[in-house]
Amino acid sequence: MRIILYLGKGGVGKTTISAATAVRSAMLGKRTLVVSTDLAHSLADCLNQPLTSEPKELAANLWAQEVNALDEMRRGWGKLQDSMTKMLRNRGIDSVMAEELALIPGMDEIVSLINIYRNAREGDFDVVVIDAAPTGETVRLLSMPDTFQWYAGRLMNLQNGTLNLARPLIKAFLPSGEILGAVQELSERVKTLREVLGNPDISSYRPVVNPERMVIKEALRAETYLALFGYPIDAVVCNRVLSKGDYQDTFMQELYQNQTMLLQQIHNTFAPLPIWEAPYYSHEILGISQLGKLADVIFGEQDPTQVFYRGQIQEVTRYGDEYILRLPLPHVEMDKVLMTKKGDEMIVEIGNFKRDITLPSVLSNQEATVARFVNKALEIHFTAPDVNSDSHVA
Ligand SMILES: Nc1ncnc2c1ncn2[C@@H]1O[C@H](COP(=O)(O)OP(=O)(O)OP(=O)(O)O)[C@@H](O)[C@H]1O
Ligand SMILES: [Mg+2]
Repeated sequence: MRIILYLGKGGVGKTTISAATAVRSAMLGKRTLVVSTDLAHSLADCLNQPLTSEPKELAANLWAQEVNALDEMRRGWGKLQDSMTKMLRNRGIDSVMAEELALIPGMDEIVSLINIYRNAREGDFDVVVIDAAPTGETVRLLSMPDTFQWYAGRLMNLQNGTLNLARPLIKAFLPSGEILGAVQELSERVKTLREVLGNPDISSYRPVVNPERMVIKEALRAETYLALFGYPIDAVVCNRVLSKGDYQDTFMQELYQNQTMLLQQIHNTFAPLPIWEAPYYSHEILGISQLGKLADVIFGEQDPTQVFYRGQIQEVTRYGDEYILRLPLPHVEMDKVLMTKKGDEMIVEIGNFKRDITLPSVLSNQEATVARFVNKALEIHFTAPDVNSDSHVA
């Protein structure tokens, strides 16, 4: 099975690109499911067909679904929720508060992810394309399996008595065996889900961008988060690219020039990932037939369900007090490395290669000291700064 998730800033074209990928995948004869996890669904409008929270067959090999996380949770895990609420109420908590407290944080997201995976397996789908919500929400969604495991681990430790139970208040709220059983069961499913989401043979994450500065910046942030969670990115889609033209209008000429410059930046910044470009149309792309044509333009002869890049884009390792940021750059020749760092932004220039990196917070207040090439990767060493946090290393 393949799971492909498109993510990016609001309005960049995630739904359109997801639907186009699914249409092409179905045309290639693969049983394909396209799922929207965005609460503000627009997949149905894009496909020009009404959808429900169950997969609906739209054409040969093509199914679509708009999941409703809260519904899923009530259906699948309502029992757990009810017994948690009951337990808290029995212990003297007012019922509204008990209901709130019984909500495990991120439980709705977890349940919708588990549901997508279950549907995918039960429906025997070859390809699942996820049309995700704007970046912030999607990063939250993808971080939930880890958060949930932490939470479940704490609950289980409470039960096993490995935490300090001196405080009577904690003892009073120890969940019952039945609840713990349910949490443990969920925890096992989350473990499998986490493995699937991090397996590069199964899952691929693809940022969608437009040639606009803020959109690119947000995608870079998303790239860093994905790298930190170990979720594999295999390509980038740049949507709304103006076609080469002899624009008479000054506004259009400037827009075109600006796009050309930003497109170059996108190629430099996201290298070595392949970048697909989708043209800017004067009309919306609606319905299966138009989406199929869009897929032809974006992917050409390629099968968009393949894995287009393997290997980490960046990784951070800690050695004692020092951190090393490793950027695999297989196509870059060793040359003088110029690094400029300001807060969480870092620009690396090697010959005519230039890359913007948004640093994880653990590195943003460290000083970049040494940079060197090791096995076709650039390694940058970070240590705690002496005086100030801005640095310029040549
Ligand atoms: N290349 C394009 N040319 C013209 N219109 C486009 C293009 N790509 C997307 N659109 C239109 O732009 C609008 C937003 O696109 P879409 O819904 O795919 O974005 P999104 O990233 O999913 O948005 P949201 O963050 O709200 O979910 C839609 O009306 C869509 O038809
Ligand atoms: Mg959308």
